[in-house]
Amino acid sequence: MKNLTARKCSANDVSAGRSGSCERGHTMKLRYKIAAVLGCLVGGRLLQYLLLGMSAGETPPRVGDGRAWRAVQAFQGRLVTRQPTAFRSQPRPALNPRPRLLTKRHKKPASDRDLQEPIFRLHRQNGEEWVHLAVVACGDRLEETMTMLKSAILFSIYKIKFHIFAEDTLHSQFESSIKAWPYLYKTHLEYSIYPINFSVGNPQEWKKLFKPCAAQRLFLPMILKDVDSLLYVDTDVLFLRSVDDVWNILKRFNSTQLAAMAPEHEIPKIGWYSRFARHPYYGAAGVNSGVMLMNLTRIRSRLFKNSMIPSGLRWEDLLYPLYHKYKNDITWGDQDLLNIIFHYNPEYLYVFPCQWNYRPDHCMYGSNCRGAEDQGVAILHGNRGVYHNDKQPAFKVMYEAVRNFPFEDNLFQSLYFPLQNSFMNTVHTLCGRLPQVFLKQFEQAMRKVYEVRVIHIG
Ligand SMILES: *[C@@H]1O[C@H](CO)[C@@H](O)[C@H](O)[C@H]1NC(C)=O
Ligand SMILES: *[C@@H]1O[C@H](CO)[C@@H](O)[C@H](O)[C@H]1NC(C)=O
Ligand SMILES: *[C@@H]1O[C@H](CO)[C@@H](O)[C@H](O)[C@H]1NC(C)=O
Repeated sequence: MKNLTARKCSANDVSAGRSGSCERGHTMKLRYKIAAVLGCLVGGRLLQYLLLGMSAGETPPRVGDGRAWRAVQAFQGRLVTRQPTAFRSQPRPALNPRPRLLTKRHKKPASDRDLQEPIFRLHRQNGEEWVHLAVVACGDRLEETMTMLKSAILFSIYKIKFHIFAEDTLHSQFESSIKAWPYLYKTHLEYSIYPINFSVGNPQEWKKLFKPCAAQRLFLPMILKDVDSLLYVDTDVLFLRSVDDVWNILKRFNSTQLAAMAPEHEIPKIGWYSRFARHPYYGAAGVNSGVMLMNLTRIRSRLFKNSMIPSGLRWEDLLYPLYHKYKNDITWGDQDLLNIIFHYNPEYLYVFPCQWNYRPDHCMYGSNCRGAEDQGVAILHGNRGVYHNDKQPAFKVMYEAVRNFPFEDNLFQSLYFPLQNSFMNTVHTLCGRLPQVFLKQFEQAMRKVYEVRVIHIG
């Protein structure tokens, strides 16, 4: 509660444009203040319409359940006596036709429905909950990793413990980068920085297995002995939705499941594994290990079926024999090993939909992730280096917006509006064609954070 009260300061005061200890100086221009107030009061959709002339035909979506919404409205009622309803009922026709946002309403798959639960309620039920987030960073991945961590902390209500595995040369830079974050965010997190450590087998061989250090993730169950569950992500991941929501997927595991990943491809016919793999893989198209939830307690305690020892092997005894058996057939290193493991143990895996690990593959040949079209991307995975080259501008502008966000400023003013503007320059590309795919969850996450913090004060 103490921390939430502290955080409220940044969310509430700054969002509402009121001056106070949390607002940075007097540099905020008046029109930005007005925009910020409107943004929080009226909702992002209307604001989009006001600022960008986008379709505002629909009423602003309700975020959360009725109770939450009423609480926010009540709060808003204290600030404004007159709702700007005129904006709502009279959509101004856009002068320059903007690219159409997604308006088609597909039926929501039932499986994803309870993920929409307002995070504040979950928070209340669970008291103080910690998300354990692990990443492995080698080479020149410092900035990318810090941007990922930043995206994780921006919208989370749960506290986060970062487990950063990095080459020794990066340790002090990680430490100083996190220490430079604003105090209010630091009250919300803990971090540990570990050396790269392949505790089983021949370290040099593991290191070479994929890109530097990637095989480290296979060893996390043994190294993080005191951690019950873990969210592992690649450095090139961005959370566009609260990290709490992906963490909650752990609670939907049935009694056999111990890990969750998304499919490697949505269309097996053109997927990599189904066409080229010379080893067993999970399901019709394999799974992608860039975003992986793990119940480490279960991973440590179970036996895994395999093609070598009929009685099964413990995780830590399985990795090296598996590697030896398949090392000449694997292309993508540790991801291939995970595919082999879950091929033989499919009942251990929870497969989450593609919007939780959205990659250029999902849009560069045309859109093939239905869940992202319906609900927006929850976790963006800019593999193939797309944050740093010009091949997929839609991914790059998302990355740059989070990287450049000055952290303490108002989220809408300093992050969402600039992002919306720069995203408009990508709508001629296949991936940028549907802005809502990239922006919807991001906008909702921002508003949820605002609501939750408001409700906790109230
Ligand atoms: C590597 O991890 C093991 C636990 O699996 C631990 O005993 C060992 O001290 C670690 N080595 C380093 C260098 O951290
Ligand atoms: C992980 O599995 C263990 C053993 O089944 C269970 O006690 C624990 O609650 C699970 N963790 C989470 C976050 O669900
Ligand atoms: C858990 O779900 C998996 C995947 O759907 C399934 O194979 C397994 O049998 C389920 N386990 C239980 C105990 O229902």
